[in-house]
Amino acid sequence: MRCFAHVVVFIFYNAKVKTWDVIVVGAGVIGLTLARELCKAGATVLVLERGEAGREASYAAGGMLADCGDETPRQLQELASLSARMYPEFAHELQDESGVQVDLRGQGTIAFTALQHSCLHPSSIALSLAEVESREPELVAPSPVAAFLPERSVDPRALTAAALKACLHREVVIASGAEVTSIDVSQGRVTSVTTTKTSYHAPIAVNCAGAWAGQLGPFQLPVRPVRGQMLAVVMPRREYLKHVIRTSDVYLIPRSNGRMLIGATVEEAGFDKRTIRQTIHSLHAAALRLMPGLVEAKILEDWAGLRPGTVDDLPILGRTDVDGYFVATGHYRDGILLAPITATVMATLIGGGKPGCDLAAFSPLRFNA
Ligand code: GLY
Repeated sequence: MRCFAHVVVFIFYNAKVKTWDVIVVGAGVIGLTLARELCKAGATVLVLERGEAGREASYAAGGMLADCGDETPRQLQELASLSARMYPEFAHELQDESGVQVDLRGQGTIAFTALQHSCLHPSSIALSLAEVESREPELVAPSPVAAFLPERSVDPRALTAAALKACLHREVVIASGAEVTSIDVSQGRVTSVTTTKTSYHAPIAVNCAGAWAGQLGPFQLPVRPVRGQMLAVVMPRREYLKHVIRTSDVYLIPRSNGRMLIGATVEEAGFDKRTIRQTIHSLHAAALRLMPGLVEAKILEDWAGLRPGTVDDLPILGRTDVDGYFVATGHYRDGILLAPITATVMATLIGGGKPGCDLAAFSPLRFNA
């Protein structure tokens, strides 16, 4: 009789306290692609999202997979190039699992920014103005120094929607609408993650909370929001612009559906996601100088997003000195580009393996000193 009572209590306890293998905090492109990768490796995964999945920086991003310009810090070049190379298969898998087309385009970039260090792509080529004109007849080159870079672009909204569907397809559970208030630690180990509504139990938690990552966890991470404002117009015709165009003050990203994105500012504005009419007007004006034929183009929308910036402009990837607490955030301007490599290396680390590349420069522990 006593024994039976004991068994009943035990079963009741287990039924009540569901334990996940891993809890991912943040359902942006980084959190979702990592959750999917962990699930592929056999883990049970819960993703916690304070708002709506994929509606922050991932929704605001341009989607240039720019791994070979001067904007990429030197320490990030290897990861950036690896991730760029992973994209065709990554996009293909997500499309297959989700049925969502992510508009991965391979027409390349024409850059008018000075490329001071050598690009890792052997196939980058200097372009004369005549070559620019033959590739993009509607474009007014802003300077005589131009280069073709074999970079791809992707639609980040579609990509994130695909990652979300792929997660659901793999039975990742997404709990949205409650803010994480703590990552709970007992005797130096993660035990649970608490939100404004409830607590979820897991021995492993990963902070993928983007610009909000600094506010979470057993210790503070130096992550800050860096606002980017941009707008989208309808091109006069599809393929009106084929390449991504990068200049020092604006970039243009064509999509296959006839939209064109014009971006972006880089602003320290705290968590303020408003757009400013004058700023959007300046971006629009810069685009019109490059492509005067856009003068009649309808403006579809403008928006702002908050990139997760760090003090050294490098992401924060790896384990912390709290057992079971990992961080994958701080991707700043490269979250879309770095999603596949981040998912791969972090899933390997979390599973106890050794990632095939050196992550020392990105360690969360680098800020301890
Ligand atoms: N990755 C583009 C931007 O941050 O504006």
